[in-house]
Amino acid sequence: MQTLSVDLGDRAYPIHIGPGLLDRAELVLPHLARNRVFIVTNTTVGPLYLNRFSECLVRAGVQVEAVVLPDGEAYKNWQTLNDIFDALLTHRAERKTTLIALGGGVIGDLAGFAAACYLRGVPFVQVPTTLLAQVDSSVGGKTGINHPLGKNMIGAFYQPRLVLADTATLDTLPDRELSAGLAEVIKYGLIRDLPFLEWLEANMDRLLARDAEALTHAIHRSCLNKAEVVAADEREAGQRALLNLGHTFGHAIEAGMGYGAWLHGEGVAAGTVLAAQLSRRLGLLSAGDVARVIALFRCARLPVRAPALGHDAYMAHMGIDKKVEDGRIRFVLLRRLGEAFVSADYDAAALRATLTEDVGAAD
Ligand code: NAD
Ligand code: GLY
Repeated sequence: MQTLSVDLGDRAYPIHIGPGLLDRAELVLPHLARNRVFIVTNTTVGPLYLNRFSECLVRAGVQVEAVVLPDGEAYKNWQTLNDIFDALLTHRAERKTTLIALGGGVIGDLAGFAAACYLRGVPFVQVPTTLLAQVDSSVGGKTGINHPLGKNMIGAFYQPRLVLADTATLDTLPDRELSAGLAEVIKYGLIRDLPFLEWLEANMDRLLARDAEALTHAIHRSCLNKAEVVAADEREAGQRALLNLGHTFGHAIEAGMGYGAWLHGEGVAAGTVLAAQLSRRLGLLSAGDVARVIALFRCARLPVRAPALGHDAYMAHMGIDKKVEDGRIRFVLLRRLGEAFVSADYDAAALRATLTEDVGAAD
């Protein structure tokens, strides 16, 4: 097992990464306020891991209750959030009952937001079971739900007390979901870690083959990058926004195509290619750099061509984004591979060309 820490002063918490951690109750116990937990999971992850994880906690003397939600991005909404509150109230969950998210990013975001709101805040633990959740969404305390008009627009910053990433759960993850997680892994290389980007270029085959050592390295390095950024800028006053490379375009793809049609990581991949193309059109990246970005996403079996939603539809969706300031869309751009920055100062013609010429079926 490898452990790193998100350094947030008295709210610092560990991230444990390794195989078989669902059977290690002793890693969870120190982070509970009382010996009572409420597990939030879904109809896919529940049948795979809920019994095993619950039984391990029960053997350690913990009282365990659970709610099993429907599976999918389309359920990351008010109604499902309310289903969690219904279950918590029905079971009389108390202030010292710890909410545990067992699942991917959708479950983590929903359960985290529920933990932030229920009784004005109850302890929260993340047990991520997708690659995307293990490298990104379980770390850093962003929680929330989608609105039909905009992705992740309702939510709260609410840090977990522990992230327990059992890498063996990835054995059951479908290939398409593994690739979706790789989009966020590649992101860290592109925005701030060129040596990692180069490692990914050399090791993508091992990651796709689920080589345990390669996956553990990628998860650890990703969490290290994320933990550093979050510790420096928890509430996204500055550099944390860089973690949104490709997300402004990607969220527009997700919302524009209907939540669930494109996986989040797929939207991020195609969106990052658009961010790279815009950076090239602004004279920052070379055509060779963009080709390198495209090749890496292709190698990870991710889509590299965003759908042709139309310039106006893209602009409408991107106009509802958490980074919008004074009504102006702000993009994460690449100054070079391994270095990103946020800018509201881009040429509208370059953006229009990106949204009309760099989308749709490749010629
Ligand atoms: P997801 O939660 O929908 O999980 C993907 C699919 O895999 C689901 O069908 C799920 O049931 C299934 N699954 C999960 N674990 C499994 C396992 N071990 N074996 C088999 N199937 C398994 O999607 P995701 O990619 O994990 O997360 C995407 C979500 O995360 C999006 O809503 C996105 O907005 C959010 N996100 C949040 C943050 C953040 O900082 N909070 C960061 C990135 C993404
Ligand atoms: N996934 C973006 C962030 O956590 O800030």
